[in-house]
Amino acid sequence: MTMASTISKAATILREGGLVAFPTETVYGLGADATNDTAVARIFTAKQRPHFNPLISHVPDCEAAFRLGKFNAEAETLARAVWPGPLTIVVERRADCPLSLLCSAGLSSVALRVPAHPMALALLKEVDRPLAAPSANRSGRISPTTAEHVRSSLGDDVDLILDGGPSAVGVESTVVRFVETGPYMLRSGGVTRNVLEDILGRKVMTPTRFHTDLHSPGMLESHYAPLSPLRLNAAAPEWREVYLGFGDYDYGPWTLSKSGNIQEAAGNLFKMLHAIDDSSPERIAVAPIPMFGLGEAINDRLIRAAAPRSEP
Ligand code: TXA
Ligand code: MG
Repeated sequence: MTMASTISKAATILREGGLVAFPTETVYGLGADATNDTAVARIFTAKQRPHFNPLISHVPDCEAAFRLGKFNAEAETLARAVWPGPLTIVVERRADCPLSLLCSAGLSSVALRVPAHPMALALLKEVDRPLAAPSANRSGRISPTTAEHVRSSLGDDVDLILDGGPSAVGVESTVVRFVETGPYMLRSGGVTRNVLEDILGRKVMTPTRFHTDLHSPGMLESHYAPLSPLRLNAAAPEWREVYLGFGDYDYGPWTLSKSGNIQEAAGNLFKMLHAIDDSSPERIAVAPIPMFGLGEAINDRLIRAAAPRSEP
């Protein structure tokens, strides 16, 4: 099948309320028509996702996002500077917003994003509706960066998987919430704090546990978890551990980046965690990862992956 006919088949499935997994520059998404309640409900079922955790709606360009949510001048500046790109902006819903209320999971806000992947953009244009899409993995597990990851995690629960090669960024989008008092970073991700602050010309705040109005329900402690337990900031492997290295901390065969390149490390993170986890080691030990640039997002995912499991 040609690319165009694959995209048109995917769009048909989506318009009929089906689920299509598609590539983005961050991770693969599990997509559904965001304006169709039944279709959005199917995402929650397929992922076994808690219903209080809202979804990101993907759109083809800034104007489409501005029609769904109330962007203030700062939010608009950030959107125009970064989109298409690995950034999600959370703003209040417009009164006439056609998105299913399930996307907002009971909140008055919406999360919006324009992904930077040619296949995702082609699909969004063809289907001509916003697509709700969480990462295409079972809830709480490692996010997928290849079509094969999606297949092995969700299998028959998805109607079609579009294969657009490995995701270039490798960690999810940065989530920024705009409120009257300014921008808050709800999740670190593919756009670094420095880049955000350079564009906005001011500090981006981080919510504390006292910001109860700013909760991101997705920030459950244990998340992104491999099946094997993890030990972080490990200078060397111990007996029966498989080691995930970085830079000088290199005990092969798994090293996120031998040259200590943080972007390369982000791109390899989920792929290597998937691969190591497939061999069910007793424990995975991970090298210290510096906090600069994408290191903030990598450390965030690792800390969650190592957190005590909150299995139902
Ligand atoms: O890179 C990404 O963002 C990927 C690709 C597929 O776009 N998607 C993704 O979706 O990571 P998901 O569902 O795995 O993560 C969405 C995050 C969650 O932490 C969720 O709680 C938060 O965004 N979120 C969504 N809507 C929100 C809202 N209205 N208010 C606060 N947080 C929200
Ligand atoms: Mg996810």
